[in-house]
Amino acid sequence: MTTIGLIGAGHIGSQLARAAIAHGHDVVISNSRGPETLAELVAELGPAAKAGTPADAAEAADIAVVTTPVSAIGSVPVEPLVGKPVIDTNNYYSQRDGVIAELEDGSLTSAELLQRHLAGAHVVKAFNHIQAAAITAESQAAGTPDRRALAVAGDDEAAKAAVAAFIDEVGFDVLDLGPLAEGWRVQPDTPGYGPRLTVDGLREAAESATRKTP
Ligand SMILES: NC(=O)c1ccc[n+]([C@@H]2O[C@H](COP(=O)([O-])OP(=O)(O)OC[C@H]3O[C@@H](n4cnc5c(N)ncnc54)[C@H](OP(=O)(O)O)[C@@H]3O)[C@@H](O)[C@H]2O)c1
Repeated sequence: MTTIGLIGAGHIGSQLARAAIAHGHDVVISNSRGPETLAELVAELGPAAKAGTPADAAEAADIAVVTTPVSAIGSVPVEPLVGKPVIDTNNYYSQRDGVIAELEDGSLTSAELLQRHLAGAHVVKAFNHIQAAAITAESQAAGTPDRRALAVAGDDEAAKAAVAAFIDEVGFDVLDLGPLAEGWRVQPDTPGYGPRLTVDGLREAAESATRKTP
């Protein structure tokens, strides 16, 4: 059993909390407005869940998750995440996040932007290309034929392995895209972003993706 520390409790954060608890983990979940605003969600999640501040979630985490608008990543606590795997589910939308030049011109991925902020943490891009509801609706046991696959990208192999094991546990095969810089292959507007694909289909989609270059 591990503790999943969630920074963000919206569509994806709440779904990852449900998935983690269904597979035997504890969760500490946080948002921008304070733990008291999460009482209803924590009551639904049951005794394995606690609400906290983002710092509480980061401190408690064996695996942390940043699942906020990209515009919020500058406020994610840095020190308590040093040395930890940090799942980044985020996608960049300029209409929501404001224009970020390095993301607009493709010189950085949104996960690399989070990694730059979280010095010493091990960011792993994951769960960004699946619709929130599908995290529970499309979960299947390991070995199920035609199981859906989700991608990971990250620079630290141990962190990536820990996240891959979590993804497998909560119901999906895993495709390793390689280092964090390769995460663009499943960002919005790529063929792998959104559809239900097996590991072979997702690999094909990721390989056929084209990148905006600076
Ligand atoms: N929805 C999807 O199906 C989907 C799929 C894949 C990836 N994504 C990406 O995953 C990320 C999260 O998406 P979502 O749909 O879950 O968003 P959402 O429903 O809008 O939830 C965002 C969460 O982030 C919290 N938050 C905002 N600023 C924060 C801060 N400074 N510190 C701590 N928490 C903060 C919000 O808390 P408050 O409400 O208290 O402000 C809220 O709980 C986004 O980048 C999105 O593009 C979404």
